Amino acid sequence: MHILHVVGARPNLMKAAPVLRALDECGQAKQTLVHTGQHYDANMFGAFLPQLGIASPDVNLEVGSGSHAWQTAEIMSRFERVVLEKKPDLVLVYGDVNSTVAAALVCSKLLIAVGHVEAGLRSFDRTMPEEINRVITDQIADLLFTPSEDADINLQREGIASAKIHTVGNVMIDSLVRLLPSAEKCKVNGLSGHRYALVTLHRPANVDNNQVLQALLESLREVSRQLNVVFPVHPRTRQRIADFGIDVADLHLLEPMPYIEFLALQRRAAVVITDSGGIQEETTYLGVPCLTMRDNTERPVTVTLGTNTLIGQDKSKLQTELSKIIEGKGKSGTVPPLWDGHASERIARIVHRS
Ligand code: UD1
Repeated sequence: MHILHVVGARPNLMKAAPVLRALDECGQAKQTLVHTGQHYDANMFGAFLPQLGIASPDVNLEVGSGSHAWQTAEIMSRFERVVLEKKPDLVLVYGDVNSTVAAALVCSKLLIAVGHVEAGLRSFDRTMPEEINRVITDQIADLLFTPSEDADINLQREGIASAKIHTVGNVMIDSLVRLLPSAEKCKVNGLSGHRYALVTLHRPANVDNNQVLQALLESLREVSRQLNVVFPVHPRTRQRIADFGIDVADLHLLEPMPYIEFLALQRRAAVVITDSGGIQEETTYLGVPCLTMRDNTERPVTVTLGTNTLIGQDKSKLQTELSKIIEGKGKSGTVPPLWDGHASERIARIVHRS
C-alpha cells in the first residue's frame, strides 16, 4: 500500500508527524510526504521538521501565498500531477487549511481514497475560511478520523455514514506528549521565574481590520501592566501591523517560535491568550488557562472539559477572566478522552485494516 500525506501550513506538521511515525512502526513500507508550499518561511515550516522528526518532504509544490481561490486552485493543479505520477492508494490530509481541501478535492475527482485527520470539527461560523475547508473535506473523505465525540455527532448530522467515522483522539496531543520532556528542559529567552501571558493572534477576523487590531493590541497593553506579555507574531499579523502603521514598540514582539520552544512557553505561562485552534487544545492538555479571542470554537471540549474560555474581542471579559487567573481562580479542567498520546497508532491500525 502506498500512502501519500499532504501538509502545507505549520499546524499540519504536528498532526502529520505522529501519523507518519505510527505507520512506519506498523511496517508501512511506502509513504510519500508532499508539501504544498502554503507556508514557506523557515520559521513557519522548515524549522519544525527536525524537532518533529520529519524528513524533508519528498515533493514541494512551492505554491506560496495568494488569494484563497488562487492558492487553492494552484495547489489543485500542481498536486494533480503528483497524484497521477505517484498513484497512491490512500491520501491523508490534515486539519482545515487550504492545502487540506485542495488535495482532498483532487483525490475525489481521481477516485483516490482520502483520509481526513481531525475530521468533524465545526465552529458553525461560515465566515471562517477553515469552516468551509472542514465541511467540504469531510463530505468527500472516505475515512474520517475524529478527535472527540462532538465531531462524530457533527458528521452524522451532515449525513456521513457511521462506518466511515473513526474516533481516534487527538493526534496533535501525540506530538505534545512525545516532546513535552524536551520542552521541560528547554529555556527560552531567560523567561524562567517570570509570570507571563503568552499571546498569539492571526485569524483574519482579528487582524485584517485596522480598528479591530488596534483595539486588541490596546487590550494587550493593559494585560502587560499586570503580567509580562510574550507575543511571537505570525507573519500575517506582522504584515497587517506594518500595513496599518500601528506602533507596537512597547509590546516586544517576537518572531514565530519553533515547536519545542513554544511548547515550553505554553507549559510555563500563567495564561495563554490566543485565537489559534491547536493552542486551545494544547493548553487544555497542559492544564494552563486559555482565553480565546473568538466568539466560537470548533473545539468545544476545550471549553466544556478543558481550560478554555471564549472572550471574543471583549476587553472587559478579558480583564475579568485575567483577574480570576491572577488570583489563582482560573479554570483547571480535565483532559478529554483519547487525548492520550496514542491517536496516531489507532489511525495506523485502521488504515491497515481498510
Ligand atoms: C493558515 C490557515 C489557518 C492556520 C494558519 C496557521 C488557511 C485558510 N488558513 O493561515 O487556518 O491557522 O495557517 O499558521 O489555510 N506568510 C508568510 N510566510 C509564510 C506563510 C505566510 O509571510 O511562510 C504570510 C503571507 O503574507 C500570507 C499570509 O502570511 O499572505 C497568510 O498566509 P496564509 O497561508 O494565506 O494563511 P495563514 O494566515 O497563515
